[in-house]
Amino acid sequence: MSGRRVLVLNGPNLGRLGVREPEIYGHTTHEELAGACRAWGADLGLDVEVRQTDSESELVSWLHEAADGRVPVVLNAGAFTHYSYALRDALAQVPVITVEVHLSNPSARESFRHTSVIASVVTGSISGFGIESYALALRAIASGSP
Ligand code: DQA
Repeated sequence: MSGRRVLVLNGPNLGRLGVREPEIYGHTTHEELAGACRAWGADLGLDVEVRQTDSESELVSWLHEAADGRVPVVLNAGAFTHYSYALRDALAQVPVITVEVHLSNPSARESFRHTSVIASVVTGSISGFGIESYALALRAIASGSP
């Protein structure tokens, strides 16, 4: 696959998709999500690499890699979304399109989820559509807008 490279980065607890609160996050496993992202990407001419970590430090280093390589990013930062200024500062360095995604709609949930400290440094955010949120994010990247 030789399309434009895209990193899909998933943060803490997302490796447990499929078993973790399926009534909120659905029944798709992380492995299945990764496969779907690669397939959607291929259809859009994108070379998608999916990674997951529970570690804030690893996520920060992946964002540095994206910043240095000018690689577009789809990021589901999990709970880090709500409080990680380190992640926010790393994301702010990525000079190409970045998309914040969530499976659920955090604004419709507990009040601590209503704050996203990363929303102001991403190109755009997509929440609440389950795994389709990732498909929409990849489509936004493939469209080249803005
Ligand atoms: C999440 C929403 C976050 O509030 C939560 O901490 C997650 C998953 C989502 O995809 O809906 O881990 O990012």
